[in-house]
Amino acid sequence: MTYSRIIGTGSYLPDNVVSNQDLEKFVDTSDQWIQERTGIKQRHIASDGETTCDLAERAARNAMEAAGKGPKDIDLIVLATTTPDQVFPSTACLLQSRLDIHGCAAFDVQAVCTGFIYALGVADNFIRSGSARCALVIGAETFSRILNWEDRTTCVLFGDGAGAVVLEASDEPGILSTHLHADGDYANMLEVPDGVSKGYDRMRANAAFVEMRGAEVFKMAVNTLGRIVDETLEKNRLQKSDVDWLIPHQANIRIIHATARKLHMPMERVVVTVAEHGNTSAASVPLAFDTAVRDGRIQRGETLLMEAFGGGFTWGSVLARY
Ligand code: UT7
Repeated sequence: MTYSRIIGTGSYLPDNVVSNQDLEKFVDTSDQWIQERTGIKQRHIASDGETTCDLAERAARNAMEAAGKGPKDIDLIVLATTTPDQVFPSTACLLQSRLDIHGCAAFDVQAVCTGFIYALGVADNFIRSGSARCALVIGAETFSRILNWEDRTTCVLFGDGAGAVVLEASDEPGILSTHLHADGDYANMLEVPDGVSKGYDRMRANAAFVEMRGAEVFKMAVNTLGRIVDETLEKNRLQKSDVDWLIPHQANIRIIHATARKLHMPMERVVVTVAEHGNTSAASVPLAFDTAVRDGRIQRGETLLMEAFGGGFTWGSVLARY
């Protein structure tokens, strides 16, 4: 049996840091409100001309270096983003060229905040089926480009960044299971309402920016993530206590606390980076993962549960032995 194993991680955050106090200067909000309701202290914002591919490249190079892999080793690139550089080519193809990788399949997946979990699920299936042996999987966003900086209910929540992993075929697990879900009936709870094909409604200001029914999304996220934890453990016949680390989507510390409670997991075993970069959508799980690998918390052989919830709605989880 072939499994995929995570053999290297990497991440990158833009240099430009915007604190809650910085936001207070141009939007009706406060550091206290943002920290109490979300746990966010600051976010990193890409500078003018800095694109999703730029961030993805830095994260990918870090992950490839950690994995000890060069351009010739990679035979699949899956990149999760909601904020691609261009309509086409895909950001994965742009990244492929930057990294001097040629010929292998390279494509984007779009599942908003669940994007990295989807990308990992896709790459894992390519490797298990024998279609690839060494995959580069990236979550990268310049979410700041789709924010309405006058809307305090959304602009304080998000930030830019990228995270990546290298997966390799192995006789040993590796990724134990992936669980991907969506329900498009909830599309209008969290969306950018306009787009390329639908067009841009010039009569409606800010239609090209994120709109969210925050409190409803919050409730759905807490309930759905609780269910996906159960689904993942049941599929693998594991107890809650068998999970060494929870690596959750970094949207809101209160949602993270709720999922940790559901798992009976002490917060010392939960990787939390939301304070430093806010919600970076598809980049959030791999950013947190890389942080805890590099600071030595996550060790080889430990069992990791990654999960995310986002626009679509989409949600999913990955259980992996590191
Ligand atoms: O990653 C994809 C999934 N997304 C999420 O998981 C986000 C889910 N939602 C959330 O995290 C939370 O719902 C928010 C952080 C967005 C909002 O927190 P909340 O506790 O649900 O607040 P609320 O929306 O119920 O608003 C409470 C009050 C309102 O004022 P009134 O009507 O009570 O007078 C808002 O207008 O807070 C006000 N408010 C703000 N005040 C200061 C909303 N945004 C702000 C703000 N600063 N930035």
